[in-house]
Amino acid sequence: MLNPNFLIIDSGIGGLSILQEIQHQIPGASACYVADNAAFPYGTQEESNLVARLLTLMPLLQRITQPDIIIIACNTASTIVLDPLRAQTRTPIIGVVPAIKPAAQLSRNQHIALLATPGTIQRQYTQRLIQDFASDCTVIKVGSSELVEEAERKFRGLPVRPEYIRNALAPLAAHLTQIDVLVLGCTHFPFLKEDISAQLPSTVKMIDSGNAIARRAAQLLEEMPLSSQKTAQNLFFFTEDTPGSHILVPGISHFGFDKVQFIGQNTIEFPQNPGAS
Ligand code: DGL
Repeated sequence: MLNPNFLIIDSGIGGLSILQEIQHQIPGASACYVADNAAFPYGTQEESNLVARLLTLMPLLQRITQPDIIIIACNTASTIVLDPLRAQTRTPIIGVVPAIKPAAQLSRNQHIALLATPGTIQRQYTQRLIQDFASDCTVIKVGSSELVEEAERKFRGLPVRPEYIRNALAPLAAHLTQIDVLVLGCTHFPFLKEDISAQLPSTVKMIDSGNAIARRAAQLLEEMPLSSQKTAQNLFFFTEDTPGSHILVPGISHFGFDKVQFIGQNTIEFPQNPGAS
């Protein structure tokens, strides 16, 4: 399919790490990105609330954005919502889940760590991934919402606080001589890659799901029929207009969006982007 339109959703800016990979691997793609800031953070939410929210929100977002492919660019959500979401739409959905399988293949010591939100760490889905693909590995799981906040702060132009990174990684301290792969199991964390790496031995490799998701999307597009040429739209949506969301706008402007919209409310244009209307 030429010039596909993606709908990419996360609680905040994390899914932009997936959008970056899509833009890199699928040059003709356009994207409507949704930061569900009204429900941020997803990582500490009750499972049933999060599922209900996404099942309700998605039909509205599909009506507004008319996507060819939906990407749930959030491990916390994908690990519980993919089946019920797929049951309510015929639009293909790609979920982002922790890269346990490639991490187990990469590890020479059979010791890997998973850094994700508290929600993702607790999921049965995550436990099954570990059983199915890393049963020969010791897997140390660390949940942190503080790092999600830290990534959002970095986007607001604030300095990353090394002590927050150190505290989040403290449960790994006793295992650092064995662990050789760290899975970044939250889409926010690639934006903290250098900050996390600065606190770890150089022997620890980091792996996230972005590249594999973009490859999966490209493969899916090859199987999809050619659609008539559409006008490319690169829109960023917030689900709530808050002072915090306005502070994120300069950081968002680097991702090629034409404008930022607050669903059902006002719009901020990026006049510097050609094609903005
Ligand atoms: N970026 C999301 C993920 O991949 C979670 C962020 C949050 O807790 O809201 O899990």
